[in-house]
Amino acid sequence: MQNMPTLNGDAPIIIAHRGASGERPEHTLAAYELAIEQGADFIEPDLVLTKDGILVARHENEISGTTDVADRPEFADRKTTKTIDGTEFTGWFTEDFTLAELKTLLAKERLPELRDANTAFDGQFQIPTFEEVLDLLKLHQAETGNRIGVYPETKHPGYFAGIGLPHDKPLLSLLTKYGYDGRDDPVFIQSFEVDNLKLLKLNTKVRLVQLVAGEGGPPDQPALRYADMVKPDGLADIAQYASGIGPSKSMVISRDALGRLDKETGLVTAAHRAGLEVHPWTFRRENYFLPTDFVSGVSPAGAGDLESEVRRFVAAGVDGLFSDNPLQAVAALKPEPAE
Ligand code: G3P
Ligand code: CA
Repeated sequence: MQNMPTLNGDAPIIIAHRGASGERPEHTLAAYELAIEQGADFIEPDLVLTKDGILVARHENEISGTTDVADRPEFADRKTTKTIDGTEFTGWFTEDFTLAELKTLLAKERLPELRDANTAFDGQFQIPTFEEVLDLLKLHQAETGNRIGVYPETKHPGYFAGIGLPHDKPLLSLLTKYGYDGRDDPVFIQSFEVDNLKLLKLNTKVRLVQLVAGEGGPPDQPALRYADMVKPDGLADIAQYASGIGPSKSMVISRDALGRLDKETGLVTAAHRAGLEVHPWTFRRENYFLPTDFVSGVSPAGAGDLESEVRRFVAAGVDGLFSDNPLQAVAALKPEPAE
């Protein structure tokens, strides 16, 4: 598909957000494998570190919501309270476990109320290391010739650097080992923080993406607000170190008072003008997450019309999008059947 309203005219990329996490517990090899089968262009591991400095795929370093750690008596004394990026969390933290210890834990569904079917997979899968994720991609390429991209997010990089477990060296080392180290390789590194992206810019040719949200600002930059970073001057600053931004969906198309998709905000146009790609998050099929115009039925867990939501964003010119449901996101890029 060419001549799209993207920055380079190509079709938008589909990024499997935490794998096909709408259909398998997130950040498991099973979730990533399914995403690849469903046609995702990239898979997204969020990355945190173990006590022995190994990158593992978890959305946050507190792991009670996505593993069975709370049910494991041998780790009861690891439960603790920490303040991370200004917020207090009580639970179990990856940086307090060696990789060997973490490997004894088993993943579970984060959203059982919305994704009851996924609970059938609870207790079946381990926490993958980043290297295991890269191995999965390498195996897929060897078997099919198809090279899948990887879109790692450094989670809490300032916090981890502060406890002596920085992301950058193991991340770049593994990306280089697996051949994801050039500007044209299918890899983006993303972060909500700024300094780690600027540091990475000095040490890699890999494309970088500045994540931005509708509220707040980067945890490592108290003086900065995301709302200002997406104004023209802010976008020009980002373009000095990144090749794209990853905004929340509503920063691209707002919603009206009834929760329906409303107007394009102009962010795609402004970002493209600054030379930046735009990869919004997160596209999910459950009614709970959808704009009300695409809801189907009354159950929050029911599946609505994700394809139509995706098509609206594609028409707005996004260059890629993060989805928990790559099957539907990929389908939305195909031409609609003639009536
Ligand atoms: O990385 C894009 C999107 O995943 C950001 O939000 O919290 O799901 O990592 P989060
Ligand atoms: Ca992420």
